[in-house]
Amino acid sequence: MLFTTFYFSGTGNTKWVVEQFKSTVIQSGHQAELYSIDDFKRCKSENLIKIVKESTCIGFANPIYGADIPSIMKAFIRFLTDSLKTEKVYSKPFYFINTFGYVNAYGPFEAKKLFDKDCFKLMAYVNIRVCNNISTYRHKSQLVSSKKLRIRKARAEDELKIMINRLLSSKKHIKGIGPYLLPGILIRKKTQKVIQNNYQLLSVQAKTCNRCMLCLNNCPTRCIKLNNQQFEFSAECTACMRCYNFCPTASIWINGIYTDPKEYFRYRGPE
Ligand SMILES: Cc1cc2nc3c(=O)[nH]c(=O)nc-3n(C[C@H](O)[C@H](O)[C@H](O)COP(=O)(O)O)c2cc1C
Ligand code: SF4
Ligand code: SF4
Repeated sequence: MLFTTFYFSGTGNTKWVVEQFKSTVIQSGHQAELYSIDDFKRCKSENLIKIVKESTCIGFANPIYGADIPSIMKAFIRFLTDSLKTEKVYSKPFYFINTFGYVNAYGPFEAKKLFDKDCFKLMAYVNIRVCNNISTYRHKSQLVSSKKLRIRKARAEDELKIMINRLLSSKKHIKGIGPYLLPGILIRKKTQKVIQNNYQLLSVQAKTCNRCMLCLNNCPTRCIKLNNQQFEFSAECTACMRCYNFCPTASIWINGIYTDPKEYFRYRGPE
């Protein structure tokens, strides 16, 4: 069987999870491929159709933002399902993996809404708790300890093994249904606008920026531009906070406010 996972990872948690997924599938004697959807607009839909056709099972993996799926993943799913509409074939089984820090509240029902049911059939849905990846003046949080992270990673590996075994025996494995889906509806309502407008809050502090261009080159939606020596952020921003977390000089400010990395951690992945 060939398991193909399309993933988005802003700061590395989801990437780590899908890499574990891949190695477990391979250890079980099957095949697995991973495709990052960063900058997916540059890829050709014929290539995607070919990838889907050759796969036994398709997966989608992403972090949870404001109890929702990041806009980049939603746009990718629309792009993929639209590309597939021109073809007949499909009712491929699919799995959904979400990573989160505190509370996942997306839920398999919501995930299913994104897909054309003739296209993909939901076989597995899991939420993997890794850790929060953002600390700002708006939401100051503590970096999770390495001990806690180790425990969560071990738990994640177990959860993935169970999911893979179920998929291999063509059995459904749907997690993430529970009472916490209800507050999720409120969280989504409350944070939707803030996340959509994230780009308006971001700016580059010229005094400290060393023009390394890391933010611009690593932005998954290519929404940072340098015009007349001024950095500009546009609405395609998916709020991943990669630019904020990885800037070597902490020159990305939020709402015009400097956040000292000694006080507000910058998160650069679970490794
Ligand atoms: C804009 C934003 C919103 C987030 N919202 C939530 C949330 O609603 N619930 C939660 O548990 N974690 C939330 N997180 C934390 C991420 O879901 C979590 O750290 C995830 O594992 C990051 O994955 P990545 O490293 O692959 O980007 C949020 C992170 C960001 C940047
Ligand atoms: S990553 Fe930071 S230092 Fe590098 S160009 Fe962007 S803002 Fe400037
Ligand atoms: S501008 Fe920053 S937060 Fe927005 S998508 Fe690009 S890297 Fe992510």
